[in-house]
Amino acid sequence: LNFRYNIAIDGFSSCGKSTLAKALAKRLRLRYIDTGAMYRAIALFACREGLLDENNQPDELRLKKRLNDIDVDFVFNPVTQTSEVYLNGEPIETHIRNLEIGSLASEVSKFRSVRDKLQSLQKQIASAKGVIMDGRDIGTVVIPDAELKLFMTADPEIRATRRYLELKEKGKDVTLEAVKIQQAKRDYQDVNREEDPLKQAEDAIVFDNSDMSEEEQLQQVIAMLQRVVQEV
Ligand code: DC
Repeated sequence: LNFRYNIAIDGFSSCGKSTLAKALAKRLRLRYIDTGAMYRAIALFACREGLLDENNQPDELRLKKRLNDIDVDFVFNPVTQTSEVYLNGEPIETHIRNLEIGSLASEVSKFRSVRDKLQSLQKQIASAKGVIMDGRDIGTVVIPDAELKLFMTADPEIRATRRYLELKEKGKDVTLEAVKIQQAKRDYQDVNREEDPLKQAEDAIVFDNSDMSEEEQLQQVIAMLQRVVQEV
C-alpha cells in the first residue's frame, strides 16, 4: 500500500482518542502511534532510575543527561493487532497505564529537552506517511501538514467514568473521585504549560464523542477523510 496521508488526533486525556485511533488504524491499515505512551515511557525510566527530586517529581537536569540512554520504539503485536510501546527493548504497556506514571508523564512532558527528543522521533515516523498519531501537539507541532486533524472533546463526567472503569477492569485500586481529581489537574497542566500546550489547530475539526458509539465515530471520521483524501 502506498499511503499518501496522515491523521492527527489531539485532545484531553480520556477523551477516547486512543480507542478511536486504534480502530481507525485497523480499518484503514494505518500505523498507530500513541505519543502519550512515549511520555509515559520516559516517566517510567525516570522513576526506575531514581531521577526524581525530594518531592518525588522528575528532576529535569538529571533526566536530560540520561536522554541518550533512552530508546523509545513501537512494535506491532499481531495478537492484540496494535502497536505497543517499548523502552530500551522491553515491552512496557502493562507498566505505564496507571495514575502514578500518568502524572509523572505530565511532569516530564513539560521539559523542553524531553519534548525535543520525542517530537523529532515522531516527525521521523510520520514522514513515512500512513500514520495515525494521537497526543496533545500532533496537529499543531508534530504533523502540522496532516491531511486530517481532529480535536477531540467529551463531557468531563463521562471521561472520568470511562477512565475509572478502564482502570477497574485492569484490577487497579482507584476511586472515581481520585480519577476526577487527577483528570482536572492534568487538564489544567496540559493546557497551561509553557511548552507546546494542548491547543486546537486552526484547521482541526472539533469532534465531541460524548454520545457516540465507536462505530458511529469510525463512520464519521472515515466520511471526513474521504472528503480530503482520494484513496480512502
Ligand atoms: O495521553 P496520555 O494520558 O497517555 O499522556 C500522558 C501525558 O503526556 C499527558 O499528561 C500529556 C503528555 N503528552 C504531551 O505532552 N504531548 C503529547 N503529544 C502526548 C502526551
